[in-house]
Amino acid sequence: MIDPVNIRGEFPIFINNPDLIYFDNAATTQKPAMVIDGIKDYYENHNSNIHRGIYDLAASTTKKYEVVRQKVADFIGAPNEQSIVYTTGTTAGINLVASSFLSHQLQAGDEILISAMEHHANLIPWQMLCEAKGAILKVIPINQDGTIEKPLYKALLSPKTKMVALVHVSNSLGTINPIAEMIEIAHDHGIPVLIDGAQSVAHYEIDVKALDVDFFVFSGHKIFGPTGVGILYGKEEHLKKMHPINFGGDMIKNVTFKKTSFLDGPQKFEAGTTNIAGIIGLGYAIDYLNQFDKKEIQKYLKHLRTYAVNKMLEINGLRIIGSINNGNNSTDQAGSIISFVMDGIHPHDIATILGVEKIAVRAGNHCTQPLMDFLELPGTTRASFTIYNTPFEIDKMIDALKGIQQFFN
Ligand code: ALA
Repeated sequence: MIDPVNIRGEFPIFINNPDLIYFDNAATTQKPAMVIDGIKDYYENHNSNIHRGIYDLAASTTKKYEVVRQKVADFIGAPNEQSIVYTTGTTAGINLVASSFLSHQLQAGDEILISAMEHHANLIPWQMLCEAKGAILKVIPINQDGTIEKPLYKALLSPKTKMVALVHVSNSLGTINPIAEMIEIAHDHGIPVLIDGAQSVAHYEIDVKALDVDFFVFSGHKIFGPTGVGILYGKEEHLKKMHPINFGGDMIKNVTFKKTSFLDGPQKFEAGTTNIAGIIGLGYAIDYLNQFDKKEIQKYLKHLRTYAVNKMLEINGLRIIGSINNGNNSTDQAGSIISFVMDGIHPHDIATILGVEKIAVRAGNHCTQPLMDFLELPGTTRASFTIYNTPFEIDKMIDALKGIQQFFN
């Protein structure tokens, strides 16, 4: 059972700001005391560099840091910690795969397939690569309800397709893509798949081994962890073949003025002093999340979403954009994100007024400009929920939205 009131009490920001209604969890989640205290403890009791010092403090910190790799592997069902690369976030993971995995294989005329609902982070790296190589970026269209056009996905795969890169849960629409099926279809054509799990990993059970996905990326700060850290999971066979793109300390086997050889494991992608405190903080965030049953999380978020959608649809001129636009079928294809527009009212005005009422939502294009072009919208207002949100908070938002509606009409 998810007990949001109790959970809220574990987050210092809500103790310090009791009136804050935080519905911007797709942008970043708040941090529980367990994570904040863990980072403080690192700096107060363990601060030292990793993999270098042979004194006790450095050795124990290295252990603390490397333990997180196994923790992440267990968290996403990876076969072992050697397939887990520490990055600075989802964006860095995708850029690394584009530059290090695909760049060397891609020829002029080859194709990369993404969907129309991708975040810029899962679009621009591929677009840049296509420009550099004379390759073609192809886009799977979506239906008006915000779901992928599956028949077109199949039709767009060709012998020229060298990578499929897809978002698991859309940050703009909340659509949950059928990634297991889509990965299988790509693999039937021998095409590797990268999944952007930034919006899914906090709330959904992820098993990269069962999915057989080639690459899976996510950020720490969207799963109650610190900013500036993220994870790239890659199949070991791929990581082994990939060349590092950042060079420096802590990623080498041997260096001479003539030649350098690199470490074999994920550390070869982690040159320089990494965000040690952040990685350790991410470990605490995973410990925090592991206390909950993901099925219970989903059940609770579905309840919140259905509750919100049903009430929002009672407001004149309010339209929910994308995946599921009524409360009754607010089920398996919609996440905990609700994007909406109100007739004649700019999304920024809605978010500004909600902000005055201490209700935090995001407004704009949500780093998905091409999706907004497709939907012919300047942007949307987005409310995104997580386990510390409550129906009471949703009631407050509904009252505020009704007030906005009356004020502008
Ligand atoms: N990608 C984050 C969002 O959707 C920042 O808001």
